[in-house]
Amino acid sequence: SPSDPDLVERARAAKEKLGDKVFVLGHHYQRDEVIQFADVTGDSFKLAKDAAARPEAEYIVFCGVHFMAESADILTSDDQKVVLPDLAAGCSMADMATAEQVAECWDVLTEAGIAEQVVPVSYMNSSADIKAFTGKHGGTICTSSNAQRALEWAFQQGEKVLFLPDQHLGRNTAVRDMGLSLEDCVLYNPHKPNGGLTAEQLRDAKMILWRGHCSVHGRFSLESVEDVRARIPGVNVLVHPECRHEVVAAADYVGSTEYIIKALEAAPAGSKWAIGTELNLVRRLANRFAPEGKEIVFLDKTVCFCSTMNRIDLPHLVWTLESLAEGKLVNRIEVDQETETFAKLALERMLALP
Ligand code: 13P
Ligand code: SF4
Repeated sequence: SPSDPDLVERARAAKEKLGDKVFVLGHHYQRDEVIQFADVTGDSFKLAKDAAARPEAEYIVFCGVHFMAESADILTSDDQKVVLPDLAAGCSMADMATAEQVAECWDVLTEAGIAEQVVPVSYMNSSADIKAFTGKHGGTICTSSNAQRALEWAFQQGEKVLFLPDQHLGRNTAVRDMGLSLEDCVLYNPHKPNGGLTAEQLRDAKMILWRGHCSVHGRFSLESVEDVRARIPGVNVLVHPECRHEVVAAADYVGSTEYIIKALEAAPAGSKWAIGTELNLVRRLANRFAPEGKEIVFLDKTVCFCSTMNRIDLPHLVWTLESLAEGKLVNRIEVDQETETFAKLALERMLALP
């Protein structure tokens, strides 16, 4: 069992043997059994910065998903090895934009005569290939904690933005935070010829949103918000910007996982909160803040864990740490040099945002 005291002891012993050679990063959506061994926890943005801040660690064990480990590899030195405890921990959203599809999209924009005016902004939740495309075409990466600043920057560089791959983060940031209208946004469907758009629609648009979404956050609905408000009078609804636009529009607060934690830390005793994000994090926060008299519930009980985040469990972490402690490098994530060069350009633009 994952809470097997023997496994806990083995993880502790292997980590101790590795000492400063290993640095363990844990995304907030990771299981408690894994989080207890993280040297730092954070949202995607914080973890990208934290990974780069440990040049002395030979191994960076990334408890998160594949695109995060790739980004860590890009931002760390060549002799540091980034390890993902289960190679099957991908992200369904990141998989919704492939390099070929995005290259084809760029051809469509070129044919419509607008490619020159378009600046790509790609969500961290994308493959290294997509980040490299973004860097090559003068764009930046963003996370849920700096999407507004990334878009402001992009609109200083060009008239239009191609936002990949999360339509919801793109739309929510443009409409909620930047005063654009829903009509300024068009949805590019990579499975349809020309993205399902006419050249005129593309020319009129300010935001070209890629048709991708998070399978977890996409399941919260307006009904979830209405139900919880009816059930818990005075409840504060706090959701992640990967939720659908109508959910974000009906919520009281919107932000990244790190923002959600800070908001609850600052919340007064006696306050009530419904949280629309991944379940491991919501449960951990509910347990942490219950003694302070803060009531925290999951926004919709029918929504479940992120299945790929959950692939990293204690048995995988033990196997990883014990292998490394025996000098055996397993599950290394390594981005090729050409991809890394351009992806790094895009990531560094993000890190330089004001
Ligand atoms: P943040 O932790 O940056 O808010 O991202 C959420 C997420 O879905 C990561 O996969
Ligand atoms: Fe991807 Fe959504 Fe899981 Fe985050 S929560 S890793 S965006 S599927």
